[in-house]
Amino acid sequence: MDKVLRVGIAGLGTVGASVARLLHAQAQDLAARTGRAIKVAGVSARDPNRDRGVDLAGVAFFSDATALAQSDSIDLFVELIGGDEGVARKSVMAALTAGKSVVTANKALLAKHGLELAALAENSRAALAFEASVAGGIPIVKTLREGLAGNSIARVYGILNGTCNYILSRMELEGLSFAECLADAQKLGYAEADPTFDIGGFDTAHKLAILSSLAFGVKLDAENISIEGIQDISLADLKAAEELGFRVKLLGVAQRTAHGVEQRVHPTMVPLSSPIAQVMGVTNAVTVDADAVNELTLVGPGAGGMATASAVVADIADIARGIRSAPFGLPVGHLASAEKSPMQRHEGGYYVRLAARNHIGAAAAIARRMADRGISLESIVQRRPGDDDSVVPVVLVTYATTEASIREALAAIVADGHIAEKPQVIRIERE
Ligand code: HSE
Repeated sequence: MDKVLRVGIAGLGTVGASVARLLHAQAQDLAARTGRAIKVAGVSARDPNRDRGVDLAGVAFFSDATALAQSDSIDLFVELIGGDEGVARKSVMAALTAGKSVVTANKALLAKHGLELAALAENSRAALAFEASVAGGIPIVKTLREGLAGNSIARVYGILNGTCNYILSRMELEGLSFAECLADAQKLGYAEADPTFDIGGFDTAHKLAILSSLAFGVKLDAENISIEGIQDISLADLKAAEELGFRVKLLGVAQRTAHGVEQRVHPTMVPLSSPIAQVMGVTNAVTVDADAVNELTLVGPGAGGMATASAVVADIADIARGIRSAPFGLPVGHLASAEKSPMQRHEGGYYVRLAARNHIGAAAAIARRMADRGISLESIVQRRPGDDDSVVPVVLVTYATTEASIREALAAIVADGHIAEKPQVIRIERE
């Protein structure tokens, strides 16, 4: 058996403690599978004395994560601190510069500095592995980088944030308010420290930037992701979606188009019959459209200590075996700078919910404005007014059109004065 792989873990929160537990529980099998014993040799955390449900007696404690990253007592640095700057970035850079391989779950760090870190890893001949950074326990990084290496990928999309899917699922199934569901997600430990990262779509965008680079062999480009969160989704939208044969999900979508790579995060209507529509609660799902394999959907836990630790430990096992994959599938110098397709050129169907003023000609004028922009309507439903009969809900579903056309049509409808509230617009994603 080769010499012991000595692991340093920085960050002993839910995930860090689970990694330590899993390495301990699976020690024999991991040694048999990788040909090396894997041992936690050092840890770093804010509180050295907290009970984390794992025996760390005899493991060196470092109050400074960067000192752990550089220490001669470890071969591999596991960063589970979080954040795109500060200690996380400093310690990862220190480890790579010292020629130590790094395993991280830090999507924010990778989305912002992934290219620089991959270059650093390449120069030091160290591994930089991040399976846990996207969709928790789902092995989507390995799937894109290795499993689908023989394919050309056209689109990758998915439910990448468990908190948002949990909120939307409970709102729909139990008729609960957004705020109640968010509070429960926080209590259960799914949400980020600042839940705006979840509900505003930013966490999904970080993960999408990583998937996009892996899928298309392009440089990470988190700056050019169009991002909308779920904060404005109402029970009325979820109900209307169901009646129309859809379900609302927060999706991250990256696709090749004639105009370049389109990257977007937004609440999305998906057909009720699609695999992704069945995914409820904190579960994540990623669908890949690829030429040889056609369509592939992976479903699994996207958050939680043990599920995320499963991905971290898989990366540690790869490194123990001596695997050093190019972090984003290609050497850094071969990653392309892709053309970016602006959101205005996005093509697809749209759901539009309007609060129309209840006067003669309003519905006709709305339909006319759509037709003026060449938008064909798949359905138009006017509902009975509520207590206030001066306003009627109107729900439109369009055939494929462009983002620019729908925005122009809605601006004209608003300017006509037929609308009492800001229109609600949700894009439709077909299989
Ligand atoms: N806050 C994230 C989520 C955790 O809800 O999916 C996993 O990245």
